[in-house]
Amino acid sequence: MYLTREEEKILDGEHGWAEQICMRILVKLGDLFGATKLIPVNSAHVSGVSYKTLGEAPIQFLQALAENNAKAKVKATLNPSSIDKKIFGNKIPREFYAKQATILELFQKMHVKPVLTCTPYYIEKPKLNTHLAWSESSAVIYANSILGSWTNREGSPSALAAAIIGKTPNYGIHQPENRDATTFVQIEAKLESEVDYGVLGILVGKKLQGGSPLFQGINASEKDCLKQLGAALASTSNINMFCYGQKPKEKIEKITITKKELEHTTKNLSTAGSEATPDLVFIGCPHCSLDEIRHIAKLVKGRKVKKHVQLWICASRYVKQKAKTQIEVIEKTGAKVLSDTCAVVTWTRLLGINTIMTNSAKTAYYAPTLNKAQTILAPLEKCLKTALIP
Ligand code: F3S
Repeated sequence: MYLTREEEKILDGEHGWAEQICMRILVKLGDLFGATKLIPVNSAHVSGVSYKTLGEAPIQFLQALAENNAKAKVKATLNPSSIDKKIFGNKIPREFYAKQATILELFQKMHVKPVLTCTPYYIEKPKLNTHLAWSESSAVIYANSILGSWTNREGSPSALAAAIIGKTPNYGIHQPENRDATTFVQIEAKLESEVDYGVLGILVGKKLQGGSPLFQGINASEKDCLKQLGAALASTSNINMFCYGQKPKEKIEKITITKKELEHTTKNLSTAGSEATPDLVFIGCPHCSLDEIRHIAKLVKGRKVKKHVQLWICASRYVKQKAKTQIEVIEKTGAKVLSDTCAVVTWTRLLGINTIMTNSAKTAYYAPTLNKAQTILAPLEKCLKTALIP
């Protein structure tokens, strides 16, 4: 990979250990994937923030970077952490709070902003055709497919390295030829809810594993449904971009998704028996948009959450701030509007949660393993109906 003189100097350690190690990460990655050079990025979004999913080892690396004066050169933001301080109280051990606080302090020292959301694009929409280095799979696929920005799915270290150097290697989806659709997906069913979109994502991801599917018959104006589709696709595959509302440039492979396959996948994503009742109804994976919050507020206004169920709505602090009135309406029901975290990246078992009902196929896919929880997948209206007193 070609490096400028300045980049060579960083690699030789002339700018200190922290930049040297970050440059090494980027060069290694670039060499591995056949990049020819580094290109500037407009922003970096760094995952690997939740102490629950991160564990101990990476903290030392963050510490070493921060102590060696690493600082982000471009706008850099953080994915959700494991805790919403206001809501979890003393149900989470103090030690976990302390560890999470250390992680956030280290990132902040490096000038990475603790927005603590998987939907940084609601805070500031990246511009069309700009290069990014993001490492949250649901945000990566949203940025590439819906916002028209360009980002590979970075790992946490490479996103942080890109933030500190301000550049990323020009391989993968940063190359125009890798942004073309590779498989035409015909759907033999009407997609009626966000759950259908998510289930479609889980199924197509499993079938294709990679490339860039071009969906026929999906509603391009339903951005929140497309968000579910992308988040789910990225959960079961290495797919970082999907296409819609266009014709393939050349003849490409074609697959058909049948109604039966979608029904079967939907059924499998609910692991709890049909009689099961959830301990938690969780909405907001990925974190809710303003539109979603407004819609939820309308649906729950004047109602109350049942005694033995918790209702969590997750959204970024930014969205919460923008929708103060609606948040008040939602909280009056007894529901909790969480920021900074989500059900998947926190210790739900410690909070007494064994069965999670959700409208997110991504959560339904991960919760049995990451939360050791049973799942019930259902559209928003049904989730709310279950959580609220009739
Ligand atoms: Fe976001 Fe948590 Fe889902 S980080 S994408 S709400 S698993």
